[in-house]
Amino acid sequence: MQIRLDKFLAECGCGTRSEVKSTIRKKQVTINGTTAVKPEQKINPETDSICCNGKKLVYEQFSTFLFYKPAGCVTARTDKTEKTVMDYFPDSMKKSHSPVGRLDKDTEGILLITNDGALNHRLSSPSYHVNKTYYAVLDSPVPEEAAGCFLKGVDIGDEKPCLPAKLVILPERTENTVYAAELTVCEGRFHQVKRMFAAVGCKVLYLKRLTFAGLSLKGLEKGSYRRLTEEEISDLMQMASLKNERV
Ligand code: URA
Repeated sequence: MQIRLDKFLAECGCGTRSEVKSTIRKKQVTINGTTAVKPEQKINPETDSICCNGKKLVYEQFSTFLFYKPAGCVTARTDKTEKTVMDYFPDSMKKSHSPVGRLDKDTEGILLITNDGALNHRLSSPSYHVNKTYYAVLDSPVPEEAAGCFLKGVDIGDEKPCLPAKLVILPERTENTVYAAELTVCEGRFHQVKRMFAAVGCKVLYLKRLTFAGLSLKGLEKGSYRRLTEEEISDLMQMASLKNERV
């Protein structure tokens, strides 16, 4: 398999296509010990040894990123009119990577982006339960009985009621009273959180996903992303029961 050097570097997370071209021009990349000069030079990721700033790059077939989605972009690979979550990633990733599940345009927070189709399928599938915690600001106080109702499985008008979910009602702030709660669900139904709160008489004014499968947004700015570590991937694979299916 032969691919362009700049594409390889971008896929290894060394920067956008234009950033890695500049890295090559600055003579910071070597191929089998020889300084690279042409971004378009073809290399074989399996047999050539590529170093960037002295560090040997390892080509991995799959890569998964943790993205802090801002409000105002849609969870899609492409869209004719709207900004998409993939617009925050280098062009080289726009065809290969996809979001795992979806967040509404006005929802912020944690979203995984991957080129691992099997992992994506498992994590998005209704039969694999992955915990996700949301922070919601509501238009009115959450009735106390909502916690019990969510724990039993609330009916939101689908064929089946929701699976049990954990609700924590946060204390009201006195000035400019904000009614807020944290809700942990293990499914990913369409507009699920907004529909669950609607079922107990509350309208969601703001929604942010704080965690996904034990991963959090710690250290990330809105609109930025980081590659998952080997350990985090391994935990996800375990959760998705893929660990023993791949060697
Ligand atoms: N539930 C919703 O209602 N919206 C989201 O974006 C995610 C979960």
